[in-house]
Amino acid sequence: MLSQEASNPGRRISLHGNWSSRTTFILAVTGSAVGLGNIWKFPYIAGQNGGGAFVLVYLFCVFLIGMPVMMSEILIGRRGRRNPVATMELLGEEEGSSRRWKWVGVLGVIAGILILSYYSVIAGWTLAYVEKSVTGQFVGASAEEIGRLFSDFTGNWVSVSIAHTLFMALTVVVIARGVERGLEQAVRFMVPALLVLMLALLGYAISFGSFSEGVSFMFTPDFGALTWDGVLAAMGQAFFTLSISMGAIMAYGAYLPEETSITGASIAVVIADTGIAILAGLVIFPLVFANGLDPADGPGLVFVTLPLAFGQMAGGTFFATIFFVLLTFAAWTSALGLLEPAVAWLVERHYRSRLQASIMVGGLIWLLGFGSVLSFSTLADFRFWRGTIFDNVDYLTSNIMLPLGGICIAVFAGWVMCRNSTSEELGSSGTGYKFWRFLVRYLAPVAIMFVFFQAIGLL
Ligand code: PFF
Repeated sequence: MLSQEASNPGRRISLHGNWSSRTTFILAVTGSAVGLGNIWKFPYIAGQNGGGAFVLVYLFCVFLIGMPVMMSEILIGRRGRRNPVATMELLGEEEGSSRRWKWVGVLGVIAGILILSYYSVIAGWTLAYVEKSVTGQFVGASAEEIGRLFSDFTGNWVSVSIAHTLFMALTVVVIARGVERGLEQAVRFMVPALLVLMLALLGYAISFGSFSEGVSFMFTPDFGALTWDGVLAAMGQAFFTLSISMGAIMAYGAYLPEETSITGASIAVVIADTGIAILAGLVIFPLVFANGLDPADGPGLVFVTLPLAFGQMAGGTFFATIFFVLLTFAAWTSALGLLEPAVAWLVERHYRSRLQASIMVGGLIWLLGFGSVLSFSTLADFRFWRGTIFDNVDYLTSNIMLPLGGICIAVFAGWVMCRNSTSEELGSSGTGYKFWRFLVRYLAPVAIMFVFFQAIGLL
């Protein structure tokens, strides 16, 4: 997928070659964006934060903060053509500021490691649910039985550990061989297939779920139900779902040929990602209400509602299997983006082979993952700050590290980089460019800062 020649010999050359085409780049970024965040996380945090108002804030954050930050990350990555740490250091100096900007890259690498530590556990659940689907365990089961199946499974740390280990191994193998091989094929097939399956499930939700109740829960804003912490969660989710502000997209941008339009690619990715998340909500909430479940149920929401529906529909075993296989693929292509920055950094900075670096970082993440594995079993009652270890790692990364990274990237692209550099990368200096620049200079930093301080009680 990465051809070894640079597209423009006059410019800086990526150490790893370039994406073979614009489509490949869009597929890789979409593969990274579409994942558990859309189908597992979005519905449950929307449910926990009261629905409508949360969704509205989320959409605002995705389009007016997330998208400009995504464009910034791609353009920074393409200009630096290194791993995120080296790129920030290089451009910081080149743009007449400081080499210390590398710490933004470091923050991203650490966020990636922490996120993957729990992401891999949830992806392990997904993998295990493939087995439960194939063996027909949902057929005819009641809501209680499906709920018990979920809590018995997540409460059994040995089974979850096996699934987590398997998923981490799959991720390390792909990264060790180089992201190029295989990823393109996987994403080319996975995203459209996931979309088709979600549309089929939407048909089911319309026919058999409480569709109007689900729609009104998702789209009727009740701002009274929304707290500042909820607004911060919506913002964090916008970053999380687009895979931004932690260097993953920057690392992919480093391999992007000069002639590709950054704006066009970003719009395509943001629309695909948002579409799948909204679709997931439209499938899940009607089923929640039809079955008398609680939308604020938390991380188990998808693992209870969908199996319940699969258990009742004709051909449910077949659809359940395909669904969990696709979700595992979606998680897999996202996990690659989480691991890549740390591995690229270790390879370039410490001259490790890709294999060594992948095993080292993967091993560390695997170990850290046990904190989340045990959060649903042995250590479920070990609570501090935001809840279990899983809750804390999630809160720290999504609601603190990603927004902080987002501010830094927006400030860097909007204030540190000179107008010429950014307009050259974005290929425009017209109205669209001016709007982007306004968003990264003013709206994004101010909005993130404001929400952040409100949520932690400083305003
Ligand atoms: N965007 C992914 C999801 O929604 O599941 C999660 C993710 C992947 C976040 C890669 C960050 C990242 F670098």
